[in-house]
Amino acid sequence: MLAYILVSWLVLAWIYFLWTRRRYYKIACQLKGPIGWPLIGMGLQMMNPETFLPYMNELSHRYKVPFISWMGINCFLYVNDPQTVEQIFNSTHCTNKGEFYRFMSSAIGDGLFTSSSPRWHKHRRLINPAFGRQILCNFLPIFNSEADVLLDKLDVEGVQRGKSLEIYQILKKIVLEAACQTTMGKKMNFQHDGSMAIFEAYNGLTEVCVKRMLSPWLYPEVIYRRSRLFAQQQKVVGVLFGFVGQLLEPIVSVVAREANKEQMHQQSRVKSKSIFIEQVREHVERGQLSWQDVRDEANVTIAATFETTSTALYFTILCLAMHPVYQERLHEELLAELPPFGNITMEHLDQLTYTEMVINEAMRLFAPVPMVIRSAAQDIQLRRDDGEFLIPRGTQIGIDIYNMQRSEQVWGPMARTYNPEAHFGPDAPPRHAFAFVPFTKGLRMCIGYRYAQMLMKLILAKIFRSYRITTAAKLDELLVKGNISLKLKDYPLCQVQRR
Ligand code: HEM
Repeated sequence: MLAYILVSWLVLAWIYFLWTRRRYYKIACQLKGPIGWPLIGMGLQMMNPETFLPYMNELSHRYKVPFISWMGINCFLYVNDPQTVEQIFNSTHCTNKGEFYRFMSSAIGDGLFTSSSPRWHKHRRLINPAFGRQILCNFLPIFNSEADVLLDKLDVEGVQRGKSLEIYQILKKIVLEAACQTTMGKKMNFQHDGSMAIFEAYNGLTEVCVKRMLSPWLYPEVIYRRSRLFAQQQKVVGVLFGFVGQLLEPIVSVVAREANKEQMHQQSRVKSKSIFIEQVREHVERGQLSWQDVRDEANVTIAATFETTSTALYFTILCLAMHPVYQERLHEELLAELPPFGNITMEHLDQLTYTEMVINEAMRLFAPVPMVIRSAAQDIQLRRDDGEFLIPRGTQIGIDIYNMQRSEQVWGPMARTYNPEAHFGPDAPPRHAFAFVPFTKGLRMCIGYRYAQMLMKLILAKIFRSYRITTAAKLDELLVKGNISLKLKDYPLCQVQRR
């Protein structure tokens, strides 16, 4: 009798559960996609970062996009066409990040990258001024001197010792060094101290978060805290917190010092309090932010700056090394627009249009952040070419930037080749405004896109003005991994020659 009552209750609870989710099932019937397994959805198929992106691409040929699938018990709208991407990025109901980002915030704190309104809105308003164009001009001396450290490294290791180099490792140190100085005001000397622990920790963190995202059975906190993945997370988080804690100790602003040197030359007024850490400090003094907020934002800002920018920079260099024709055209522009040696100014950077094209083409083919996930805070009305559909509140929306930016339907027959002129040149065919979104668009767009563009242009200009880089790697042999930022399974070696 007891068993009978228990089973009846379970059946009733199950029916109630299904009934509360009836709107998700309705939209799943309308925008048909793969269903996967009960309770874990497509988790198993999506679990492998190495096959995840090609797998999603294959699904997008099997089902009409956008389609509904399931991640764990979450209803998941998969999007990889510019028309839908535009609707999502422009919707005021889709500014919150997906459920999945809570794994990242539970690991490193709730900074801008992961937070939801109203916290996100308030913090974004307070932090925005730290990345405006005027303030970025103050960073040029630091960017120039870090680029020189990179050139020295390429020269000593690559030219004088004739070694083949894994340039990604060198770039990561340079970009993290620049990030520490320009956002936190601290010089770290990564290039000289040789410690890799911090880089491994950043890598480890993204891997842990992605593995958890793709393993729905680890979503419940009680199960996760008993897993091996959690133990791994605690280890890397310990290293990262130690590192950021060190950065937050009282500072002597390197930016102020460097900017003041430059000021003597340019007679321009430079505010030392303009960098991120000094601005957030003022917000703490005014009671607008707590120290915990500052720690969370510092964690995210450092990670967001260095992971993505070094990835984008690396792929640009690799693409140019694989395509000497475009490298030569880039060199011609640099010869024409820059002095033969010495520092690069903002005026120089503004002239470098071909440099911008080679960067954009690399970010198109190798989207540094391959997928972003948003959550529908309200019901939204979505237009597809076969009608209008109601996407219920709470639906997770995955925007597959990587596959969209490589799609032949969107970019034409040369979509999978590296060809800056064909896709970004003056005669390139017009394309949808949301077909190229490496920084996304709309309210939640990357706060550091100008910073990244400036740093990447400057470093590339300095490298290719004086050096030629080659590699035996081939574009279609590279195997990518769909992490939070794009990775390669193996990083090919490059050779460096002085021009
Ligand atoms: C090539 C380099 C970079 C790329 C490709 C990139 C890309 C992105 C993307 C795709 C997002 C997610 C936006 C969304 O969900 O709509 C994002 C957010 C963010 N990025 Fe970047 N980023 C880069 C460099 C930087 C730099 C240099 C900084 C800091 C100076 C930065 C700071 C941030 C922050 C704080 C967010 C969260 C913004 C928010 O949600 O309000 N990023 N970035």
